[in-house]
Amino acid sequence: MEIGIDKIGFYTPHLYVDMNKLAVERNVEPEKFTIGIGQEKMAIAPLTQDPVTLAANAALDILDEEDKEKIDFVLFGTESGIDQSKSAAVYVHRLLGLNPQARAVEVKQACYGATAAIQMAKGHIALNPESKVLVLGSDIARYGLNTGGEATQGAGAVAMVVSADPSIMVLEGPSAYLTADVMDFWRPVYSDEAFVDGKFSNEQYIAFFSSAWEQYKSKTGQGLADFEAFSFHLPYTKMGKKALRAVLDEGTEEDSERLLANHQIGAVYNRNVGNIYTASLYLSLLSLLEQSEDLQDGSRIGLFSYGSGAVGELFAGRLQPGYREHLNVARHSELFATRKEVTVSEYEEIFQETLPTDGSSLDLDIDQDPAKICLSGIEGHSRQYVNKASNIEAEKISARAER
Ligand code: COA
Repeated sequence: MEIGIDKIGFYTPHLYVDMNKLAVERNVEPEKFTIGIGQEKMAIAPLTQDPVTLAANAALDILDEEDKEKIDFVLFGTESGIDQSKSAAVYVHRLLGLNPQARAVEVKQACYGATAAIQMAKGHIALNPESKVLVLGSDIARYGLNTGGEATQGAGAVAMVVSADPSIMVLEGPSAYLTADVMDFWRPVYSDEAFVDGKFSNEQYIAFFSSAWEQYKSKTGQGLADFEAFSFHLPYTKMGKKALRAVLDEGTEEDSERLLANHQIGAVYNRNVGNIYTASLYLSLLSLLEQSEDLQDGSRIGLFSYGSGAVGELFAGRLQPGYREHLNVARHSELFATRKEVTVSEYEEIFQETLPTDGSSLDLDIDQDPAKICLSGIEGHSRQYVNKASNIEAEKISARAER
């Protein structure tokens, strides 16, 4: 039985800041952000979007009634979760109206969480071939205003349905993975913002990729020529390129050209969103699938996941015949095209807005947010969520009943 990605969806908030303008405000040459780091636009989450709503909006676009019935496991990878006890998966399960006979948990290991979830999903499907698993990666990356990491923030989510006989990509068996206790990036429970040793983190990322690649080659006997492309976890788009370059001298000129060109295509969405931690690798995969004209049915793509702290994993996927018909290119083009630019000072204001933590209530204006699923406020320490689509349905039903 083959198991893999049957559907893939994406959501990012409707606001962004232009990196050229951020650079000017920070007295940095714009090329440092656009070329040196490789970011063009940075998604900004208003207070009405949090990791739960981002994930639910990403999933809303892809699930049909049969999926909602068959999904019996929701796995939510995040490192910016909203609760230290209750999993974000439970909120999403309710907001999407999924079958109650389901498991729902959150998975944490920095940016590796969604990959751990994918591997767990594969195990679940192997035991329950009729089931479907909803895997979510959703994060808001915050380093703080005027910090070294500021240019690598972002917000968004990717949702994937993992099943047997998938429509988009079969996830192959051999996988290379490793863990080592390193302090390159972490966020203590008392802090809203991450701590990072940026240069050390870059070094660890490349060291983990090189080591996983050696392990993968010895497990499979494969080399660069066996891959059409590599998708990388992209905290910023230059990071993947740096890692790829570390192994390119093993291949031919043609391998280098193909892999570098595909890396660039796979970075298009990430350049315009920023870091979305757990979902960054899968956003890059989506960018490659939706923006490449050269990929073929059967093309093999290497996927490298890195979660600071640190865990790395390298595995491969094979594109299914007709995979393009199962992508949602028009929806994602519209999502990017309808975003609204905010000024740097508006971004700073939004960045500093927070929910009350003393138990007081707050009502948020969700009419300003075009997302279907929003955070509408907080009451007694409990976040209040609204699915506008299901409310509209409910209103229609009651109007019909009154007539
Ligand atoms: N034109 C073009 N490139 C320029 C430039 C210019 N005017 N000015 C600088 N650059 C390049 C630098 O040469 C460097 O490129 P290199 O990395 O290929 O050497 C790059 O821009 C970044 O410059 P640097 O001085 O290293 O930036 P920094 O000290 O601000 O740190 C990060 C950059 C990425 C380390 C920092 O933003 C960070 O800590 N980010 C978070 C890290 C992270 O996400 N870690 C998790 C990994 S999973």
